[in-house]
This record gives sequence, C-alpha cells and structure tokens, in this order.
Amino acid sequence: MSQGHDQTSRPEWTRPRAVPEPEAVFRLQVNGSSREVTCRRDTPMLYVLRNDLGLTGSRFGCGLAQCGACMVLLDGHPTPSCDLPVWAAEGHEVTTVEGLSDDPVMRTLQDAFIDRQAAQCGYCMSGILVSACALLHSDDEPPRHAIAEALDRNLCRCGSHGRVLAAVTDAARTMRAHGSGDEPTQDGDRPQHDDRPQGAARPLGSTP
Ligand code: FES
Ligand code: FES
Repeated sequence: MSQGHDQTSRPEWTRPRAVPEPEAVFRLQVNGSSREVTCRRDTPMLYVLRNDLGLTGSRFGCGLAQCGACMVLLDGHPTPSCDLPVWAAEGHEVTTVEGLSDDPVMRTLQDAFIDRQAAQCGYCMSGILVSACALLHSDDEPPRHAIAEALDRNLCRCGSHGRVLAAVTDAARTMRAHGSGDEPTQDGDRPQHDDRPQGAARPLGSTP
C-alpha cells in the first residue's frame, strides 16, 4: 500500500505553489465617493486605501486586527481595515479618518486631544480618533468604562491611554455644552426633522 506524502511535511521549497488569484475590478464607496480599483479579491482594504487611493491616514501597525492603527468605519462601525478584504467592502460605505475631517464631532475630539496633549508619537491616533468619533456619535455622555470598551481594540505603544480617555471625556462634555456635535442651523435650532433630545448624538451612517 502506498504511504503517500503529507504535503505539509515536505520542505517549503518543494511544495507546489498556490496559483495567485487573478486581479479583478472592485467598486467601492469611500468617504462618500465611488472609487474603482483593480486588485486581488483578498487584498486588505488598508492596502487599497493607502496604495491605490492615496488615503494614508489609516496606518499599518500589526496587520492582524489587534492594534487598531488601521481603523476605518464600515457603515459607521469601527473596523480594522487590515483585516477587511476588498471584496467584503464592496456594497458598504467605508469612511477613513480623512473622510471625517469636516465632521463636527471629530473636530471637537481633535481640539480635546490637543488640549490634553494626548498624542506622543501619534502613530495610533488616527485609529483612536476614528473609534472615538463613532462612539460619540452614538453616545455623547459615555461613562469612562464605555470609552475604554470602545477603544479596547486601539493600542497605543506610547502609553497615552490615560490622556486619551480624558480627552474623549472632555470632548463629550464640550458636545453636551454646545447642544450636540452637529452644526447648528441658521436659527441656532436643531433641524425640524430631528427629534433627538437636545445634546444627543447621532450614529455615524444613520439617516437623519
Ligand atoms: S494594523 Fe490593523 S489592527 Fe493593527
Ligand atoms: S502616541 Fe505613539 S503609539 Fe500612540
């Protein structure tokens, strides 16, 4: 009887090479714009964003969905883009830190981070800000444990976590003091269609 050969017991260089998948065209929605890229279907969105679309705000840290440096919003939910194959992003709205630059909640957060000097090297900060922005859009009075939980997937190698928590708390307080993170209408009131309680935030990606 033939003993056969277990492929995994053979030295790496003698094993048959997997045939690389052919490239294909993917149609994406990124920061509110339709974009088209040609790549292999398993290409991580992080590579597509940085290398194909020039959006370098999302950072490469671990590449294993463990550090949060590459965090983007997928339909409003914080998602590590290093662990998101391009095929899985099709049909969803991808928002990067660049796409949040005009967001009033993001601007409030940035001011608070500067005031608290929360960044040291800054490498982790775009991922942290993306996660924090999603949190404050859904809850403008998060207790400290909720902030810690929302940022649980964002690591900071410089150890800024204490100041980050304080900055997010400050930003939430500022939002409440100003009514909400949204821009006021001309007469200073919330839009007519908006029946949120004064000061409440709106989840990112939700329809007003
Ligand atoms: S680079 Fe994506 S989670 Fe670390
Ligand atoms: S500020 Fe350096 S990794 Fe966070």
